[in-house]
Amino acid sequence: MKVRKITVCGGGNGAQALVPIAAHNVGCPVDLYAPYADEAERIRAGSADHGGIEVTGAVLAKARPRRTSANPAKVIPGSDLVVLVLPAFAHASTLREVVTFLDAGAWVGAIPARGGFHYCAAQVLKEHDRDDVGLFGLQTLPWACRIREYGRVVYVLGVKRIVDAASRPAAKIGEIAPLLERVLGLPVGAAANGLALTLANTGQLIHPGIMYVLFVGWDSRPFSASDIPLFYHGLSEEGARVLAGLSDEVQAIRARLDTALDLTAVRPLKEWLVRSYGDAIADPSTLRSAFVTNRAYAGLEAPVREVAPGRFAPDFGARYLAEDVPFGLAVSRAIARLAGVETPAMDRVITWASMHLGRDYLSLAPRAGLEPVGARIPQKYGLESLEQLISFANEE
Ligand code: NAI
Repeated sequence: MKVRKITVCGGGNGAQALVPIAAHNVGCPVDLYAPYADEAERIRAGSADHGGIEVTGAVLAKARPRRTSANPAKVIPGSDLVVLVLPAFAHASTLREVVTFLDAGAWVGAIPARGGFHYCAAQVLKEHDRDDVGLFGLQTLPWACRIREYGRVVYVLGVKRIVDAASRPAAKIGEIAPLLERVLGLPVGAAANGLALTLANTGQLIHPGIMYVLFVGWDSRPFSASDIPLFYHGLSEEGARVLAGLSDEVQAIRARLDTALDLTAVRPLKEWLVRSYGDAIADPSTLRSAFVTNRAYAGLEAPVREVAPGRFAPDFGARYLAEDVPFGLAVSRAIARLAGVETPAMDRVITWASMHLGRDYLSLAPRAGLEPVGARIPQKYGLESLEQLISFANEE
């Protein structure tokens, strides 16, 4: 497929990494839609000054977005590919901002999709009668990356070996997966449908699971910098058992739905780690060893807040809970309810996370006097039975 132009939506770590990487790999103009706060202005100034946004570390690229704007009318038209690289809570609002400016035949999607992206995105397209536009999602962000200098330098700590994508219509995966491979510069596997991608979201297991293990017994007393735990390399045997329990429940959902849908892309957690990180894992023999000997995870600490000089507390508002529960674990758990699969491990983690997030992510429907359900669960989009869930996925 010939690409005339790509537009990246977002102004954070992943968006600023993707602009130069896509420009470098595809060689077409790449525009940036950055409507949040004064990001467009800051990126314009930073990249002009630095001669482009520079990606360093495990990936090297440097390019300036051709145009950076907070106005979708200036950057979305003429794009063959529009990529949202944003925290999942910003997907729906951003899609609503861009949807009327998409060209017929364009592809729009999210990297990463997180849970339930296809439900929310299909609804936005339907609201605007845009059945002339293709949808895609990626199972994860291919890079661990952080902005070093805003609008100028992004550092890539590690790259995954392969990432899966799903499309809607599903039959067009053969068109979009090779294009995403070119853009990202790494192999892109095919997931058969958006439901597979939702269940295959391993961040939903790893992030809330480890937060739970690390902090369920926290006594509310701030700790010093030297006591901030390593998030991945500090994984205990008990932590690995919690993660295995969550992964087993996703596999039970897969087993229940396997006869009706192709869910091959929904891999057990250890299998996913080995497939994604390959040689970066020195000892892949157990789930715990696959974490604690993974070079890509070296040095990464648990999210904390400094609550007094030199004193820290867990950051329960960090995306490991605030994103990975409503746009991850709670979605899979809601799917489990439709599939009639019991999920005691998920329920335990979600109950604990809900307490810290101040919202009940176990509920499946709005309840009188409470805030509406915030999670991107299928029930919120009118899919209230297993038959409806399967038929939506099979439409794809
Ligand atoms: P980020 O935290 O850098 O994204 C922040 C950006 O989101 C802001 O700069 C702004 O452009 C946008 N934003 C924030 N609030 C907004 C709002 N209210 N409305 C509209 N836009 C808003 O995110 P990052 O690191 O680029 O991650 C993007 C996605 O990739 C997330 O889902 C993250 O969990 C995932 N991910 C990131 C990894 C990384 O290493 N950066 C690794 C794996 C996954």
